[in-house]
Amino acid sequence: MTTTHTQSDAWNGPVGTHWAKHHERYDAMLSEFDAALFEAAAIRPADRVLDIGCGAGATTRAAARLASKGRALGVDISAPLLERARAELLPNLWYEKADAQTYPFTVGGFDVLISRGGVMFFDDHRSAFAHLARALRPGGRFAFICPQPVDAQSVEARVFGRLAELRPQTPDPVVMAAHRAMASLSEPDRLREVLADFSEVAIRPVHAASVYGSDPQDAVDFVLSRGPRAEVSAEVRSAMAEVFESYAGPLGVRLPSSVWLVTGVRP
Ligand SMILES: C[S@@+](CC[C@H](N)C(=O)[O-])C[C@H]1O[C@@H](n2cnc3c(N)ncnc32)[C@H](O)[C@@H]1O
Repeated sequence: MTTTHTQSDAWNGPVGTHWAKHHERYDAMLSEFDAALFEAAAIRPADRVLDIGCGAGATTRAAARLASKGRALGVDISAPLLERARAELLPNLWYEKADAQTYPFTVGGFDVLISRGGVMFFDDHRSAFAHLARALRPGGRFAFICPQPVDAQSVEARVFGRLAELRPQTPDPVVMAAHRAMASLSEPDRLREVLADFSEVAIRPVHAASVYGSDPQDAVDFVLSRGPRAEVSAEVRSAMAEVFESYAGPLGVRLPSSVWLVTGVRP
């Protein structure tokens, strides 16, 4: 019998728990894309902002600060991440534990919808985005980032390929459910298809450098924390650190990384 693992299993289970425990690290990896995301979202003081898949809430807090006379709502399916998000509240900010695909948002209740990598995990993207379009007022806009197709020649792919050779692992099927979904919107044609309810859809690449650790050893500790708790020899550990060595500098271990920045307007 095969078991189907849902996104809720992953984000309320091992993936969400890891993200909550290491929320600062994940924020360091993703915050390099914030300038492009927030420039595109162009949040104004009176805006009502919806953050989809808000995770530990870093982008919801940033949105709430920009919407100083408006408000920001963060929605997420992950209890451990929302617990983390709720540890840092602001007066014009709130969170709902909700599946963004079906949550009964007020029709036209938002001016701006943002997401930093939280829209890839839907079961049916076409109907989820149609649902989200209704939550925006006519003329309201969205800006989100999502992964580009994996390029086998990229630094990230080569680094993680080499690390996997040094420490082969049996994939956890619950974790794999989330990993597989990460790539669900990587093809621009697919993005345009599922965003058919919006106008002015634009897909642009954004290049940055994701911070994996303060130094190579710290990056190795982080990578090892993502896998099963098997012992790793000192030799393997130091070989893994060597893989990160060429990307280490005063700002930490930084791997070049690219995402799509996707924007559009509700007609
Ligand atoms: C890659 S994480 C990004 C988290 C956060 N946006 C950040 O930048 O740190 C994806 C997030 O999407 C959430 N998520 C997945 N499916 C969702 C859904 N259907 N509705 C709401 N949130 C969802 C996950 O629980 C997770 O917190």
